[in-house]
Amino acid sequence: MTCIPILITLVLASASLHAKAQVIQPTFNTTTWTKPYQYVLQYLSNSTSPFITLTDPQWPTYATTFNERLQYIPAAITIPNTTEQITAAVSCASKYGIPVQAKSGGHSYASYSTGGHNGILMIDLENFNSVSLDNRTGIAAVGGGVSLGNLAQGIWEQGRRALGHGTCPGVGIGGHFTHGGYGYSSRAFGLALEQIIGLDVVLANGSFVKIDNETLGYVYYALRGAADSFGIATTFYLQTSTAPEVVIKFSYSFPPALESIENATAVFMGVQNFSLYSAVVVSFNKTIAPALLEALPVPPALNEGSVEPTDWITSLAMLAGEGSLTVPLHGFLQQDNFYAKSVSTNVSFAEEPIRKFFEYAYSAGEGLDAPISWFSIINLYGGPDS
Ligand SMILES: Cc1cc2nc3c(=O)[nH]c(=O)nc-3n(C[C@H](O)[C@H](O)[C@H](O)COP(=O)(O)OP(=O)(O)OC[C@H]3O[C@@H](n4cnc5c(N)ncnc54)[C@H](O)[C@@H]3O)c2cc1C
Ligand SMILES: *[C@@H]1O[C@H](CO)[C@@H](O)[C@H](O)[C@H]1NC(C)=O
Ligand SMILES: *[C@@H]1O[C@H](CO)[C@@H](O)[C@H](O)[C@H]1NC(C)=O
Ligand SMILES: *[C@@H]1O[C@H](CO)[C@@H](O)[C@H](O)[C@H]1NC(C)=O
Ligand SMILES: *[C@@H]1O[C@H](CO)[C@@H](O)[C@H](O)[C@H]1NC(C)=O
Ligand SMILES: *[C@@H]1O[C@H](CO)[C@@H](O)[C@H](O)[C@H]1NC(C)=O
Ligand SMILES: *[C@@H]1O[C@H](CO)[C@@H](O)[C@H](O)[C@H]1NC(C)=O
Ligand SMILES: *[C@@H]1O[C@H](CO)[C@@H](O)[C@H](O)[C@H]1NC(C)=O
Ligand SMILES: *[C@@H]1O[C@H](CO)[C@@H](O)[C@H](O)[C@H]1NC(C)=O
Ligand SMILES: *[C@@H]1O[C@H](CO)[C@@H](O)[C@H](O)[C@H]1NC(C)=O
Ligand SMILES: *[C@@H]1O[C@H](CO)[C@@H](O)[C@H](O)[C@H]1NC(C)=O
Repeated sequence: MTCIPILITLVLASASLHAKAQVIQPTFNTTTWTKPYQYVLQYLSNSTSPFITLTDPQWPTYATTFNERLQYIPAAITIPNTTEQITAAVSCASKYGIPVQAKSGGHSYASYSTGGHNGILMIDLENFNSVSLDNRTGIAAVGGGVSLGNLAQGIWEQGRRALGHGTCPGVGIGGHFTHGGYGYSSRAFGLALEQIIGLDVVLANGSFVKIDNETLGYVYYALRGAADSFGIATTFYLQTSTAPEVVIKFSYSFPPALESIENATAVFMGVQNFSLYSAVVVSFNKTIAPALLEALPVPPALNEGSVEPTDWITSLAMLAGEGSLTVPLHGFLQQDNFYAKSVSTNVSFAEEPIRKFFEYAYSAGEGLDAPISWFSIINLYGGPDS
């Protein structure tokens, strides 16, 4: 029986839901970019690249990004079918000084598929949507516009294969795999980007190149972490893994722990210590559960938790919280209105900053009684079984 090494996520949330962040309406003033804008439009009209502008009925579907709080107006959006069309659009935009940005899933927290400002040329990769597994080598060739859900479903159906990545099916490979990409299986498989073994890329200078750790190795290095500053990945070559036969999805709930800052801090320190020291995994019930429960100074409410063995693809659908992992290939639009901030550290937390964190979270007005809903997720990554 295969079992995924566990990853622990602590979630703290406020119950109130009565206010939403303010939506900032984009302002549209073409005056400042009229000249280059006209050139680029003329160039696109001359080319075979499909593109749309502000007055196109499809515009809202393509220009709108996930975070509705941060909406910007691109100068134009191309929806290419071929690498040559991307190369042409990038060359033209760079010639006239218009910034270019790729859009994959559009899920950037800061709407960076629109560059975070008005007036860019957006290259929407939705037609780069193929998932093709070589089930001899386990290498999948995946288009730059594929969503995580369609990717997971595709490699499962074509060969019962798996990749480590995040949980939300609508997130795109383009942003996720080039910036890190972390999920419940990261301790087993590594970050999403660590599974990239090669890329087909349109570079900022208009060249189309196939790169890996030996061919244009310095570009390959830059693409994994900072792709949006260097080029557009049209195809990702990913080393997949055999999907585990059994995945145990478990959760524990800690109402008593949440009743005081002292207890919340103690539970956090216990869980962190567990993730740092627990190594030998025999089975969930025989080793993980007892070791975890022993590490906890405040017992969880066992009647509220769950332990569910399932298969790989079902576990992904459960984590996604949606019936299906697959999302539509064209015109898919999901939105939320939020402000988010992340930090990561490579050292374990001392007790004092964790107590300070809970003091802040519990303080009236800013914390659990805040007028808008908020949540905080703490992921513990690393440790001996990682
Ligand atoms: C609901 C939700 C859930 C999430 N869950 C997780 C999670 O579980 N784990 C996790 O690690 N992260 C998670 N994220 C964060 C997510 O991984 C990042 O926001 C990611 O960058 C989104 O990728 P995208 O392709 O959808 O975004 P986009 O907005 O399309 O792109 C993001 C950036 O990448 C660039 N880019 C896109 N495609 C390419 C390409 N082919 N070549 C070069 N550059 C490209 C864009 O220009 C932009 O700058 C989540 C985000 C949301 C909104
Ligand atoms: C648009 O931009 C131009 C140039 O910066 C400025 O003169 C003009 O007032 C702006 N128009 C509006 C409606 O903001
Ligand atoms: C587009 O084509 C027209 C007619 O051939 C030409 O005059 C013009 O220079 C071209 N524009 C661009 C930006 O390539
Ligand atoms: C090319 O892209 C356009 C717009 O996205 C689409 O309507 C068309 O069917 C595509 N053509 C081919 C040959 O794939
Ligand atoms: C691998 O691919 C071949 C050809 O498509 C198929 O017949 C075979 O069943 C696949 N193997 C697995 C494990 O899916
Ligand atoms: C573009 O940059 C790449 C990587 O540095 C280089 O190999 C290629 O020759 C450049 N192409 C042009 C047209 O300058
Ligand atoms: C490139 O990756 C391959 C496959 O993982 C490996 O065999 C090779 O040693 C690597 N080359 C370099 C220069 O790191
Ligand atoms: C803290 O946890 C202990 C152990 O479960 C429990 O007895 C106690 O009531 C909790 N304290 C508070 C203030 O909730
Ligand atoms: C951390 O875990 C180890 C191994 O499980 C245990 O021996 C140790 O007492 C724990 N330390 C704390 C501070 O809980
Ligand atoms: C493991 O524990 C859970 C809950 O404690 C129980 O429901 C399940 O039957 C156990 N599984 C095995 C294989 O013993
Ligand atoms: C953590 O990161 C810092 C900065 O990159 C580095 O100097 C340090 O060695 C790292 N510590 C550990 C324990 O990995």
